Amino acid sequence: MKIKSATFVMSNSDVAKCPKEPIPEYAFIGRSNVGKSSLINMLTQRKSLAKTSGRPGKTQLINHFKINDEWFLVDLPGYGYARVSKSQKKTFQKFITNYFEKRLQLVSAFVLVDIRHEPQKIDMEFMQWLGENGIPFSIIFTKADKLKPNAIKQNIDIYKEKLLADVWEEMPNYFITSASKDIGKEELLDYIAQVNLE
Ligand code: GTP
Ligand code: MG
Repeated sequence: MKIKSATFVMSNSDVAKCPKEPIPEYAFIGRSNVGKSSLINMLTQRKSLAKTSGRPGKTQLINHFKINDEWFLVDLPGYGYARVSKSQKKTFQKFITNYFEKRLQLVSAFVLVDIRHEPQKIDMEFMQWLGENGIPFSIIFTKADKLKPNAIKQNIDIYKEKLLADVWEEMPNYFITSASKDIGKEELLDYIAQVNLE
């Protein structure tokens, strides 16, 4: 899929106020600093469409971007960031879970995980929650530029083993990406294009 247009629509913390247009929607979720906003910029080839930062906790709202006038890409706040206050964490959690439970046009979530790290409890729990709520998702391994091909393969094997040992009967669909080296762009966009047609 070619990206012809990518525009910021709105930010808010209330799923009821999200855009009403009934077009397909895809959301990026994952721990803070995993690279959700950077990946949106890489996919759309717009350097600062989504705001990024080296410090975790940058994205704090539900951000809608309209792509090719046909579908929405959504940037969400990260979960699991230790340095925000407890009450802030609760507010985040509430509107993120609300978003996933109530956003009917959401076609699929993408759960981003840093390819360098071992499977984290918080990601496993979140994927399990998505599964229990019948929300389709794929996994995106980010920051692939940080590892050599062998290590990438090894870490994905560890991930598969962990997921299959826990709750999943098969490995969810997954992608390997790097926002800084433009890895995985075509695969991800082609996947979205294909699902949009279904
Ligand atoms: P929050 O909004 O805080 O939840 O974070 P986020 O998941 O949106 O992460 P963001 O895109 O802001 O990126 C966090 C940091 O990781 C930034 O310093 C990025 O430059 C860096 N980063 C993101 N993607 C990549 C990547 O593919 N490779 C490398 N090397 N760094 C990356
Ligand atoms: Mg962000």
